[in-house]
Amino acid sequence: MIIEDVDDVTPVVLQTMSGATSPRFKEIMEALVRHAHAFAREVNLTEAEFEIGVDFLNRIGKQTTDVHNEGILFSDSIGFSTLVCLLNNGGQGSTETAAALLGPFWRMHSPMTENGGSILRSPTDGPALFANCLIRDPSGQPIAGVEVDVWHSSPVGLYENQDDTQADMNLRGKIITEADGRISFRSVRPAGYPVPIDGPEGDMLRAQNRPHWRPAHIHFLAFREGFKTLVTQVFVDDDEHLESDVVFGVTRALVGNYVKHDGPAPAEDVDGPWYSLDYTFVMEPGVAKLPQPPIK
Ligand code: BEZ
Ligand code: FE
Repeated sequence: MIIEDVDDVTPVVLQTMSGATSPRFKEIMEALVRHAHAFAREVNLTEAEFEIGVDFLNRIGKQTTDVHNEGILFSDSIGFSTLVCLLNNGGQGSTETAAALLGPFWRMHSPMTENGGSILRSPTDGPALFANCLIRDPSGQPIAGVEVDVWHSSPVGLYENQDDTQADMNLRGKIITEADGRISFRSVRPAGYPVPIDGPEGDMLRAQNRPHWRPAHIHFLAFREGFKTLVTQVFVDDDEHLESDVVFGVTRALVGNYVKHDGPAPAEDVDGPWYSLDYTFVMEPGVAKLPQPPIK
């Protein structure tokens, strides 16, 4: 088709794509083209700015490896991951949900851990944490047989895959709920951490004068046939970055109750203050499906 003038471009492109076999693919691509064209018109995008944008996308691709996912980082830090999460959970955004973004550090095949066991795989300094979680359905019934994958950063704010001093899979584990719908595990209190800023996402944050910190949290991924897989994070309630999470993951429902204790701990070898976390997750009926692991 020959383009007569600038107003022709959008309808001509949409017309060309109209033969897509999948109706859903057609709907998504048409909306993408309409919004992308409207965006260029709205900001009067210059050719120099267009080149910067294309270079930015190319750098996201080049920076992504088996152990680093720059695409997810970018999506997270423009709030897109949280938007998609909230649109797809809690009755399509109509009710409160315990769901949150996956983030770039989930690994498949974390070690099976007995209920009540520890997810420390190498000595890790920091205050002990004892977590007790209930997984129930919307009617309040406990759900047995849920595989609950847990992962979090160390008390210095590093995931094991970012830190040679930690054993492989340290602070990661998978625990299965019993008939009472409960799991418990021992770990250490996580710390908040800066997200990686040595790539294009970091350039964007610097240009926007934004802090690049995440408040301390523990990630959970709850999986059982018959229920929508619940991906979430529970945040440490006294963290200084709770109100300024660089990836917009903190919702009211996800601020946990991490209680500090000075008295006797549930285990004899605990020295000094320790923390407990009690949290209830509600899983919605639906299709159990695991996300693509962002790293290997
Ligand atoms: C995380 O929680 O692991 C995370 C999420 C988004 C960006 C970086 C880290
Ligand atoms: Fe995290």
